[in-house]
Amino acid sequence: MTVNVSSPLHWKESRHFSLNPKDPVFYQNPYASYKEMHKRQGPVYWQEYGMWCLTGFDEVNQCLRDKRFARLPPAGFERKPYPTHLKDFAETERFSLLALEPPEHTRLRRLVNRAFVSRQVESMESEITRLAHTCIDRFEASGEAELLSQYATPIPVTVIARLLGIPESSTDNLLAWSHSMVMVYTMTQSHQDELNANNASIAFIKFLKEQIESRRSAPDDKLLSQLINLQSEPDGPSDAEIISVVILLLNAGHEATVHQIGNAIASIILQPPDNPLWWQSKEEADRVVAECLRYDAPLHLFTRYAQEDVQLDTDVKITAGTEIALLLGAANHCPMSFDSASSFDVSRTDANHVSLGAGTHFCVGAPLAKLELRIALSVLFERLPSMQLAEEPRYRDSFHFHGLESLQVKWS
Ligand code: HEM
Repeated sequence: MTVNVSSPLHWKESRHFSLNPKDPVFYQNPYASYKEMHKRQGPVYWQEYGMWCLTGFDEVNQCLRDKRFARLPPAGFERKPYPTHLKDFAETERFSLLALEPPEHTRLRRLVNRAFVSRQVESMESEITRLAHTCIDRFEASGEAELLSQYATPIPVTVIARLLGIPESSTDNLLAWSHSMVMVYTMTQSHQDELNANNASIAFIKFLKEQIESRRSAPDDKLLSQLINLQSEPDGPSDAEIISVVILLLNAGHEATVHQIGNAIASIILQPPDNPLWWQSKEEADRVVAECLRYDAPLHLFTRYAQEDVQLDTDVKITAGTEIALLLGAANHCPMSFDSASSFDVSRTDANHVSLGAGTHFCVGAPLAKLELRIALSVLFERLPSMQLAEEPRYRDSFHFHGLESLQVKWS
């Protein structure tokens, strides 16, 4: 990824710009446009989305933690309901952590945290390592591979299925349902995409109802059984809540991780390590992971609703109920917070990022995502040190889920 390419962003007024999110020049390299946005001080207005955007690291980081902003509009400013052809999709979101705010969010998040304890995540280390080796065993002899489908995709979905205690034979269905459902979050989906997302939701809900019934009669020590176990407590989760939580864990749990693994591999191959010891210590490998998360994150845009009138800066005041965009990818490349922000530098002293969010909705899966990344990268680069790109990596036509279409590599 180079930032010296031109940006298709056009300034209309001092802070208003036009930029088609489906322009390939943009989604292949959004960082060139972020560089343009950073030239203006304070929030900038994206005409195609009709929203003020925060692009600075401090501004985005503070807004994620600011109680005057939430994922839901304040009372009296209800969100536009989903159309009826998305009825079942809406059902999966009803109790999603991402569709709740305190106090409802606090209760459910606490229940999820209790089931999703770090001890359980850490105990996955050797299993994830074995899984990474098994994937490489399948393609090593051929001298080439398409790493997105052969490596980055199977690891996260298998890991989350094992954590939940869902049969691994169902991972193909889980992937297909998840791909269809996340289209609704791209804000550029077609009517057919929405119908597909709703059908996927129907199948996913049916599957999970069957899984809940089967765990109820034959519990194990996995996450789904633990959530069912919590139902015996006075504020325990309902079946509908468990279904929403599990769907969010499955969708969030692999879609972002797949693309972060792909983006990270490409970043590292394009900027080969100057330190051959990267993969020999956990601490150093964790620094590589942190820089990969900053340098080329998979999720670039989240929104928040103002809960009251807010003065965003001296010139920009927004009223209660207004939705604003937080550009996480831009914040990670903010020239005010990072020296040589567009350079991949594992030894940076200003290491930081907002790729996993912050505040109330900070990523529940952050420890798992970082563990998967550390193992997936270490095992791959240790086993195939001569790996090179076989073709230039191309990003998918999806600005919100910034990830590669394919990652073709070869080695000798
Ligand atoms: C590299 C991979 C990942 C990235 C970049 C990522 C990023 C994020 C971000 C930015 C948020 C906050 C959204 C907001 O504030 O509006 C979030 C929330 C969340 N993530 Fe992740 N995530 C990753 C992996 C995972 C994994 C592996 C899981 C679970 C297995 C997971 C589960 C969740 C959940 C449940 C939430 C909602 C938390 C809440 O609303 O309280 N994520 N993630």
